[in-house]
Amino acid sequence: MKTDTPKTILLSEYTPPAYLVPSIDLEFRLDPHATRVTAVSRMERTADTPADAPLVLNGAGLKLVSVAIDGAPVGPDRWLQEEERLVIRKVPAAFELTVVTEIDPAGNTALEGLYLSNGIFCTQCEAEGFRKITYFPDRPDVMARYRTTIIGDPAVLPVMLSNGNPVADEIGEDGLRHITWEDPFPKPSYLFALVAGDLALCESPFTTMSGRDVSLRLYVEPRNADKCEHAMASLKKAMVWDEQAYGREYDLDIYMIVAVDDFNMGAMENKGLNVFNSKYILARPDTATDSDYGGIEAVVAHEYFHNWTGNRITCRDWFQLSLKEGLTVFREQQFVADHQSAAVSRIHDVRVLRAAQFPEDAGPTAHPVRPDSYIEISNFYTSTVYNKGAEVIRMLHTLIGPEAFARGMDLYFERHDGQAVTCEDFVRAHADANELDLGDFFRWYVQAGTPEVSVETRHDPESRSFELTFTQTLKPTPGQPVKKPMVIPVRTALIGADGAPLALRLANEAADAPEADQTERVLVLEDRVTRFTFADVAERPVPSLLRGFSAPVKLETRAEDADLAFLMGHDDDAFNRWEAAQTYAIRVIHRLIADAAAGRPLVLPADFRDAFARTIGDDSLDPALIAEALTLPGESYLAETMTRIDVEGITAARQFVRREIGRSLEGLLLEVFDRLAAEDAGKPYSFDPASVGRRSLANLCLAYLGAPGGTAGLERARRRFETADNMTDALGGLLVLADQEDALSQPAFDAFYARWKDEPLVVDKWFMVQATASRANALDHVLKLMEHPAFSMRNPNRVRSLIGAFAASNPRGFHEASGRGYDFLADQIITLDASNPQIAARLVGPFKRWRRYDDQRQALMRQALERIAARQGLSRDVYEMVSKSLA
Ligand code: TRP
Ligand code: ZN
Repeated sequence: MKTDTPKTILLSEYTPPAYLVPSIDLEFRLDPHATRVTAVSRMERTADTPADAPLVLNGAGLKLVSVAIDGAPVGPDRWLQEEERLVIRKVPAAFELTVVTEIDPAGNTALEGLYLSNGIFCTQCEAEGFRKITYFPDRPDVMARYRTTIIGDPAVLPVMLSNGNPVADEIGEDGLRHITWEDPFPKPSYLFALVAGDLALCESPFTTMSGRDVSLRLYVEPRNADKCEHAMASLKKAMVWDEQAYGREYDLDIYMIVAVDDFNMGAMENKGLNVFNSKYILARPDTATDSDYGGIEAVVAHEYFHNWTGNRITCRDWFQLSLKEGLTVFREQQFVADHQSAAVSRIHDVRVLRAAQFPEDAGPTAHPVRPDSYIEISNFYTSTVYNKGAEVIRMLHTLIGPEAFARGMDLYFERHDGQAVTCEDFVRAHADANELDLGDFFRWYVQAGTPEVSVETRHDPESRSFELTFTQTLKPTPGQPVKKPMVIPVRTALIGADGAPLALRLANEAADAPEADQTERVLVLEDRVTRFTFADVAERPVPSLLRGFSAPVKLETRAEDADLAFLMGHDDDAFNRWEAAQTYAIRVIHRLIADAAAGRPLVLPADFRDAFARTIGDDSLDPALIAEALTLPGESYLAETMTRIDVEGITAARQFVRREIGRSLEGLLLEVFDRLAAEDAGKPYSFDPASVGRRSLANLCLAYLGAPGGTAGLERARRRFETADNMTDALGGLLVLADQEDALSQPAFDAFYARWKDEPLVVDKWFMVQATASRANALDHVLKLMEHPAFSMRNPNRVRSLIGAFAASNPRGFHEASGRGYDFLADQIITLDASNPQIAARLVGPFKRWRRYDDQRQALMRQALERIAARQGLSRDVYEMVSKSLA
C-alpha cells in the first residue's frame, strides 16, 4: 500500500538494464507462514553502465534475511532498503549475489507472488509478482536461466513443480524432499512458477511434428480428476494447430498445467508450467456449459500459443504487452475459428470488442494498444491491449494478405527468438519480409480511440457507376487532443438485387485487370476522406461493408431498413448477415426508447418481426448463426450507442422487444424449440459445433418464450431445468425461471444449490444467475447473498460472480435511481482493496462511464468515486482507476 501519490511510469523513460542475470539458483523451503527463499544470481554489469552504478533490485513486502556478494556478507552500510527496492552500492563488474528472504504465502491474499489456494502453494509472477518472492531486477528484459530447488514435506506436498525438467529428487537429512528443476530456456522473472500440493495427475503423451515425445500433464485437486478430459484434448488440438498453421512446435519434454481455485485472471503461461484458474480447465457435461467448454478450449490454446508468442520471444518492457497479448489473442481466434463455426467465432470476437473495448476507448481510461504511461501495470491487462491488439494484427493480416503475413511471422520468429522486443520490432519484421512501408499502419499502436467511419453512396444509372465515399474521424482521448487518420481496411462487396455479389471493377482499372472480376475487395482508407468508384454497375446495389468486421471501427451506415432486412437474408458474408440483424435491432430499440420517452405507445415494427421470423424459419442456415442473429444486442453495447445513456429506456425497450417477439411468434418458437429438443433427446452430450448450435438456438427460443411469462414457455423451462443431463440446457431453463417472481424462481434456486453446493464453479453460476436476474429488488437479493455461507471475498471467481456480475450486468439493479447500487459497489471496492487490489481495481469498471448518465446518476456515481478516492492508503491499482475516472 502506498500513502503518497503514486508515480507514473513513462515509456519515454525506458533505459536498458544496468546489470544482466545470466542464471539464477532458487531454493524454497516451503512453510505456509514462513517460506524461506534463497536466491543465488550471477550478475553482470552491461558494457554501457558506469562502474559506480549501484545494483537496483525490485522487492515488495519481503522480510530481508541476508545479502552476500561472492559469498561474503554485505552489511546494511552498503545497501539501502526502500519500500519497493533494494539498492546496493559498490558492486563488482561480475559477481554472485545471494539474497535470503522470508515470505508468508498463507497471508498473501493479493494472489500475486507465492500464495496458497486450498492448501496448494502456487505462484503468479506476471507482471510484477516475482518481486514479492525475492529481490531481483523484476523486468522482462532481464532473462535468466532458472534452477529451482523446492524443499517440503512429501506427506503434505506430494507434488512439487517448477519450470523445465526435474534434475534431482531426494529425501534430505532433514527428512524433507528436495527436488530440483531446471529450465534450459532463459526467461524473464514473470514466467517463473512454482506449485506444491496434493494434486491428482492426468497424463497423456504427445509427439511433435519433428518426432519429439512430450509428456502432457494436468494437475488438479483429486476431487476434480474426472473433469480433465476436455482440457487435455484442447491442449493437443492447440499443439497440432500451431505446428500446422505457424510451423511452431513445443520445445521441452514436459508440458504441465495446474488448476487452482483462487486466481486473479484466466490463466498464466509460465514456461513449461501453466497455472490456470480452474474455471478454464475443469469440465464435465453436467457441470460446465457449452460456453465453458469453448472458454477452456480457447484459454488452453492461448496459454500454449504464448510459448512462442510471449515466452520464446518476449516483451522488452510492459508497454509492449500487446506484442504478446494482442498477437496471442489473434492466434487463439484463428484457432477457434478453425475448430468451431468461423462466422460464429468471429461474431463472439466482435461482441467482446464492442461490449468491453469500445466503452474503454470512449472513456476516461482510454489508452493506445501500446500505452505510453501507467501507474500500475496490472491495470493495463485491458480489452484494448488484448482484443483491440488482436484486431490490429488481424488488420495487418488483411492488408498484406495471408502469404505475406506468414513470411512476416517467419522472419519475426527467426530474427527475435530468445529476445525481449518491442511492437516496432514486430511490425518491422513484417515490413522487411515483404519490402513494405508500414509506418502509417503503426498509428494503430499509438493512437487511442475508436475511429468513426461514415459512408455515402451514389449510383449513376447513366454512367453505370457506383461511388462509395468514406469519411473517418477520431475523437480526442485523454492526453491525445489531435489525431492523424488511420489506415483502415474495409472488406467490401456489392450485392445485386438478385442477391448475388457483383464483380468489382474500379473505374480506373482495365476490364481485364486481374482484380476486376473479384466479388470482394479490401478497400483501404488512408486519408480522412477516401472515395472509390466502381464501373459497370447497372442497378443500385446494396453495399456489404466491413465484412467479417475487417477493422475495429464504428461504421455509420445510411442503409434503409429494407436494405438491412435484405442483407439479413442475402449477404454471402455470414458475419455481415448477423451485423445487419444487429444494426436493425439497434435501430428498432433506439426508436422504441424515443417513443417511450415521448410518451408514445410502443409497437414492434412488423417488418422487423417478419425479418426475424424468416431468419428463424430458414432451414438453410446453421442454427448457431440463427441464434446469434436473433440475440438482441447487449445492454452494454446499446449503452455505448447512446450519447446520454437512458438506463430505464434501454432495459424497457429491450424487454419489450423480447416479450413481443415471444408473444407474436409463439407458435414458430415452440415449433423450433420442440423440434431441436426432440432431436437431442437421449443423445449423450457432445461439444461439437452442430450440437452447440442446436442447444444455443433452443435456449434462445426458450428465452423468448419465457419473456412474456406465458405457460407454454415456463412449462418447458421448468422441464428443461429439471431433466437436462447437461449444464447448458439446465441453465437455459434456470435463466428463464430466474426472471419470474420469487414463488417460481426461489424453488429452482434452492434445488440448484442443494444439488451443486460442493462444486465451486457451479456455485459461481448460482450466484451469477441471481446477481444478474432482472427483478425489482435485485440489490436486496445481492445483499442477502453476500451473507450466504458460500460467499467469500477471498475468492476472485466468487467476487466476480456476485459483485462483478451485478455491477456490470444488472443495469436495473446497479443503476437503481436511489444510488444504493453505487454505494454498495464503492463499499465492496474499499473492502477488497485491503486484501486484493487487482480485483478491487477491476470492480471500478462500471463506474468509469459515469459522465454518460443523467444528471442525478452522474452526481451519485461521482460521489461514490470521490468517497473511494478520499480513503487513506489506497492501492496504486484502485488509485489509478478512480483518479483517472474522476479527472
Ligand atoms: N499473461 C496472462 C494471459 O493473458 C495474463 C495474466 C494471468 C495476468 N495472470 C495475471 C496478468 C495476473 C496480470 C496479473 O494469458
Ligand atoms: Zn495472454
